[in-house]
Amino acid sequence: MGLLSIPRPSPPQPLTVLPMPTPLIEFRQLQKVYGSGNTEVRALWNVNLSIYPGEYCAIMGPSGSGKSTAMNMVGCLDRPTAGEYFFDNQNVATLDDDALALIRNQKIGFVFQQFHLLPQLTARENVELPMIYAGVRSEVRHQRATEALVRVGLGDRINNKPTQLSGGQQQRVAIARAIVNNPLLLLADEPTGALDTRTTEDVLGIFADLHAAGITVVMVTHEPDVARASQRIIWFKDGEILNDHLSPEDLAHSLAVR
Ligand SMILES: Nc1ncnc2c1ncn2[C@@H]1O[C@H](COP(=O)(O)OP(=O)(O)O)[C@@H](O)[C@H]1O
Ligand SMILES: [Mg+2]
Repeated sequence: MGLLSIPRPSPPQPLTVLPMPTPLIEFRQLQKVYGSGNTEVRALWNVNLSIYPGEYCAIMGPSGSGKSTAMNMVGCLDRPTAGEYFFDNQNVATLDDDALALIRNQKIGFVFQQFHLLPQLTARENVELPMIYAGVRSEVRHQRATEALVRVGLGDRINNKPTQLSGGQQQRVAIARAIVNNPLLLLADEPTGALDTRTTEDVLGIFADLHAAGITVVMVTHEPDVARASQRIIWFKDGEILNDHLSPEDLAHSLAVR
């Protein structure tokens, strides 16, 4: 008698699994403590935070809530006291100073409230600085610095020194410097704090363009109108995240109860 051909149950079909994006920035129970004993300050306390590639986030919160400490941590300028920080899949606590400097130079662009341009250098020379550290040869540096200045609308100011530029123009030079190495992340601490309303809008317009081009943007601001330009508002209080993913309406509520 021949074998009956019994239909076998079909093998399980492979599940279609959507790839889970990896955060660009991930804090896990991160702590940053300054001092010890009576003078101990818990600047960040057990913070969990994930920011994904392409996000545009604002960090808000009262003075002393840990915003700058969080920015220094995100920017790989400092290491956590406890917990973990992964940036672009690298565990920052395990990296030495040279490795952190390399990450900052290649993957992160910094913008500060006070611009921090070198006064004796022209706009183009200021923008070339991160490429000098990266070992880019001079003709390429000149070309890329000029392109970055054109991108922020300063193509006609490349040979001006900072004192010959307005505050808004100086901040645009600083943004050009921040983006010239094609970073993954633009990190800005109060980028519009020293600017008037109109120049603030110019700077936010440039941030929006960079975000649209795919750069992840994280900025600290205490100005609700500036924060509203972002997609996600992360609100710190006493070293912890009090609120995340706030919509503009939620923000109005938080400002009222703060
Ligand atoms: N280098 C430091 N040494 C000691 N305490 C610090 C230092 N930096 C910040 N702090 C303290 O940590 C807390 C958070 O500070 P910070 O991150 O600067 O807050 P924010 O930027 O929100 O104003 C504050 O209590 C501040 O005094
Ligand atoms: Mg601060």
